[in-house]
Amino acid sequence: LERPVVLTGIKPTGSIHLGNYLGAIKPALGFLDKGSVFEGHQAYYFIADYHALTSVVDPKQLKQWTLEVAATWMALGLNEEQTTFYRQSDIPELFELTWILNCVTNKGLMNRAHAYKACVDQNVTGGADPDEGINMGLYTYPILMSSDILAFHAHWVPVGSDQLQHVEIARDLAQTLNHRYKKELLRLPKAFIQEHMKVIPGLDGRKMSKSYSNTIPLFAPPSQLKKLIARIKTDSSLPGEPKKTQDSLIFTLYKEFATVEQTAMMEQKYAEGISWGEAKEALFSLLDHFLQGPRTKYEYLLQHPDEIEQALHKGAVKARARAGAILQVVKKTVLGS
Ligand code: ADP
Ligand code: TRP
Repeated sequence: LERPVVLTGIKPTGSIHLGNYLGAIKPALGFLDKGSVFEGHQAYYFIADYHALTSVVDPKQLKQWTLEVAATWMALGLNEEQTTFYRQSDIPELFELTWILNCVTNKGLMNRAHAYKACVDQNVTGGADPDEGINMGLYTYPILMSSDILAFHAHWVPVGSDQLQHVEIARDLAQTLNHRYKKELLRLPKAFIQEHMKVIPGLDGRKMSKSYSNTIPLFAPPSQLKKLIARIKTDSSLPGEPKKTQDSLIFTLYKEFATVEQTAMMEQKYAEGISWGEAKEALFSLLDHFLQGPRTKYEYLLQHPDEIEQALHKGAVKARARAGAILQVVKKTVLGS
């Protein structure tokens, strides 16, 4: 019996930060472990570079971010046996399926897509033409994303809640196609949203995001990491005054990388009035220690991009075999050949 498929993509639109790591990469790397939600599944993880093309116009930048995202996953220990890791643009089959899906997508469905609507709203608020600056890639983004998912008969798609609508669109399109041709051509995928997963705040207290320049890059050199941690906003409580762990980003991050014992000890230090300076120092040492191995590997890979390319190529061969077989059945059906 075939192992069910977990599939997710990440856009190379900037350097990976702690929010991306804790919110998306770390959980994805653990999904297939013994005792975890997707034990016994197979994973398809990919770099959505053609999705990034809706906003990144500099090819050098796109290439660099693609390599960085790939190196990040590889440095953190992808389980190569259970995971197919590839780059979206290496899978031409996706675009044949994208066209077929285009032809079953109601234009109205795209008009209602959140990301597109948000751009239109922003234009209207600013007094510009509603379609100002909106390319067809952004408009049809959900169709390519549906293709990403449906071309692999994915069972589960782990995403942040902002992507839920896109996975629902993929379900919708699969259903419409199946219904039109009276055949189970595509599998209806399910979104996997981790409800308990909190949003990691950035240096300024807003959601940590590339768009807000408030990030701590995962693989910042130690000296920069230290400086960025020093910039984390704290309240004005003095050394010796008890501190709350709940609203402390320093504590939130510490907990993510600490053992249970380390966390309990830090909780006690907060109650005893650790100074913010010491708390930041403790966070820095913990993070720096955790990152040492991965950082060495990350830097090595970026200096040897051919090794990254090799890994991506290997992934693409596997991915194309699966997507190709699925596409063939769909093509035969819709073209009547
Ligand atoms: P960004 O906001 O930096 O552009 P993306 O939207 O590209 O990040 O998100 C990539 C992945 O990382 C998504 O799965 C998203 O849910 C997750 N992610 C991004 N920022 C955070 C955050 N601050 N906390 C938790 N998860 C996050
Ligand atoms: N749109 C997703 C994001 O912005 C990235 C993505 C592209 C994706 N294709 C996908 C995620 C397919 C899951 C499945 O984060």
